[in-house]
Amino acid sequence: MTYELCNIGDYTEAQYGAMYRSAAPDRQARADKFKHEDDRKRCLCADMLARKMLAKAANVAPEEIAFTYGDKGKPHANLPLHFNVSHAGAYVLCAVADTPIGADIEKIKPFRAGMVARYFTDAEAAYIWGSNPPLDGNVTDPNTCARFYRVWTAKEAYVKMTGTGISTDLGAVAFDPDAQTVCGIRLITPQAPDGYMISIVKSDLV
Ligand SMILES: CC(C)(COP(=O)(O)OP(=O)(O)OC[C@H]1O[C@@H](n2cnc3c(N)ncnc32)[C@H](O)[C@@H]1OP(=O)(O)O)[C@@H](O)C(=O)NCCC(=O)NCCS
Repeated sequence: MTYELCNIGDYTEAQYGAMYRSAAPDRQARADKFKHEDDRKRCLCADMLARKMLAKAANVAPEEIAFTYGDKGKPHANLPLHFNVSHAGAYVLCAVADTPIGADIEKIKPFRAGMVARYFTDAEAAYIWGSNPPLDGNVTDPNTCARFYRVWTAKEAYVKMTGTGISTDLGAVAFDPDAQTVCGIRLITPQAPDGYMISIVKSDLV
């Protein structure tokens, strides 16, 4: 498994022009629709990073790579490889592997306490609240927010691995903080840039 991060601020307008020209027409059409510049940049960087990493892993030219989409929108490449992309704030993350993989990057920010009771298991809630009693309202404590986003990104990486996305019952996607697994699948937790959290979930089965 390999993963890479790119920062959308690291590329010039000329480089974004080249990314646009290398993208497939459906990607170009998506990039054209964004009103905010950063959305357009994340969209083009995601395509560039996935092509670059898949091309390197498969030893083919980036322009030979074509994408198709699962019924819930998960992109697949025309190669015997799996990949998944995520973007948040300044960053785009891509992970490539020989078995199904899901990746998620999120900015760590305050969250509504009610989310924990609504979407998280008892073990996840105990991990998030730690030795504190469960909080109410908007939670801003940085350590609690970091634990919340550890769980959130782990669950999201899992549903991105399976490709089922928001149609999944998130209560059934159980992160085990002791085993560092999600539904029994190993969780990989690369060091993220300051203020961000990254989770990658990779199946052992093709
Ligand atoms: C796309 C989805 C799977 C992730 O959305 P997100 O967090 O907003 O977006 P991310 O930046 O992590 O990922 C977006 C990328 O995932 C990929 N993607 C799209 N649909 C996907 C799917 N069904 N499965 C896996 N990957 C998918 C695409 O490459 C997309 O990049 P693109 O927009 O540049 O084409 C979203 O539809 C979803 O279901 N999110 C789960 C929401 C949720 O309730 N999470 C709670 C976790 S506790």
